[in-house]
Amino acid sequence: MNILLAGGAGYIGSHTCVELIEAGHSVVIADNFSNSCPEAVRRVEELTGAKIPLYEADVCDSAAVEKIFSENKLDAVIHFAGLKAVGESVEKPLLYYRNNIDSTLTLLEVMRKFGVRNFIFSSSATVYGTPKEVPLVETMPTGTPTNPYGWTKLMMEQILTDTAHADPEMSIVILRYFNPIGAHKSGRIGEDPNGIPNNLMPYITQVAAGRLPQLGVFGDDYPTHDGTGVRDYIHVVDLAKGHVKAIEYSGGHKGVEIVNLGTGTGYSVLDIVKAFEKVNNLKIPYVIKPRRPGDIAECYANADKAERVLGWKAEKNLEDMCFDSWNWQSHNLNGYK
Ligand code: NAD
Ligand code: UFG
Repeated sequence: MNILLAGGAGYIGSHTCVELIEAGHSVVIADNFSNSCPEAVRRVEELTGAKIPLYEADVCDSAAVEKIFSENKLDAVIHFAGLKAVGESVEKPLLYYRNNIDSTLTLLEVMRKFGVRNFIFSSSATVYGTPKEVPLVETMPTGTPTNPYGWTKLMMEQILTDTAHADPEMSIVILRYFNPIGAHKSGRIGEDPNGIPNNLMPYITQVAAGRLPQLGVFGDDYPTHDGTGVRDYIHVVDLAKGHVKAIEYSGGHKGVEIVNLGTGTGYSVLDIVKAFEKVNNLKIPYVIKPRRPGDIAECYANADKAERVLGWKAEKNLEDMCFDSWNWQSHNLNGYK
C-alpha cells in the first residue's frame, strides 16, 4: 500500500516508517516539524535505502493536504500528527484542541474527497482515565481525562466512530498506545524531546548522559509492589510493527476497531531504573519526590485483542527497551541536533 504518514517525522512515526518500508509498503510523510526535524526522515532513508516523499505541511491546512493527495496515489493514512505534552495542554488548551482535532477533521475530509478510506489513528491509554481495574480491556468504559490532551484523544475516538458509522466503506483502526520507549537497534533514530523531558525514559537517558543531575521519582506511596507508579512500557519498534499489522488488517476490514497496543506487563518506575542500570552498567541517581498531579498508580493493557484481531504481539523485553534507549541517546547526546 502507499500510505500517508501525518506526523511521520516524529518518534513513533519515524520508527513506523522503517517497519512499513521493510514490510514492502511505500510511504509519503507530511509533517510541520513542530516537534521533529527533517533529519529524522533523512536517517530513515539511510536505514531503508528508500526515497521518501516529504512534505513540510500543517495537516490542519486543507489546501496543503489536498496537494499531497493530488500528487500521490494514496491507499491509507496513519495519523500521528498531534501535540502530546500533557502539562502544556493544561496551559494552552485551545492550541491542543485546534491542532489535534482540526488535523483529524481535515485529513478525514480530504480522504473522503479523494476516495481514500483506510485510516489508522494514534490514540492513547489516557482515554481510560483512572482505571477501576487492570489490565485494561478495550470494552471497558473510557474514563474522564484529567487534561485537555486526554480529552482531544477521547473526542477524536468519538469523531472517528461516528465517521465510520456514517460511511460503511470506511475502515478505521484506533490504536491505544501504552508507554512507548526504546529506539531502533541501529541507534540512528529515537526519541528527541524538546527541553526537559516529561516522560520517564528520556529523563533517565539524559541523567545517564550527564545532561540532568538526577531523576525525580514521583511518589513511592502508591499501592504497587514497591510504591512507585506502574506502566506498560512497550518497545517503539514493536509498536511500529503493530501499525504494519493494522494497515494490513484495514485492507480487508470495514467499520471501526479499537485495539490496545501494550505488552500486558506492568513495570514500576524503580523496576525501570534498576533494569536500565543493570543492562547498561550505569548508575542513575534518583530522589523520591511528591506524586505528580494527575498520575495514576497502575496502568497496563490486556493485549489479547491485538493478537486475536491483528495477529500482533510485542516481542521485545524490558532489557531490549533499556539497551536500545541508551544506545540511541549515547550515540546522539544532543538528539538530532
Ligand atoms: P512526536 O511529537 O514525536 O510526533 C508527532 C509529530 O507530528 C511530530 O513530528 C510533529 O512535528 C508532527 N505534528 C504535530 N502537529 C502537526 C500538524 N498540525 N501538522 C503536521 N505535523 C504535525 O510524538 P510521538 O510520540 O511520535 O506521538 C505520535 C502520536 O502518538 C501523537 O498523536 C501522540 O499523541 C500519540 N501518543 C504518543 C504516546 C507517547 O508516549 N509517545 C502515547 C500515546 C499516544
Ligand atoms: N515518572 C517519574 N519521574 C519522571 C517522569 C515520570 O517518576 O521524571 C513516573 C510517572 O510518575 C509515572 C511513570 O514514571 O509513574 C511514567 O510516566 P511518563 O510521564 O513516562 O508516562 P505517563 O504514563 O504519565 O504518560 C504517557 C504519555 C501520555 C500517554 C500515556 C499513556 O505521556 O501522553 O503515557 O499512553 F497518554
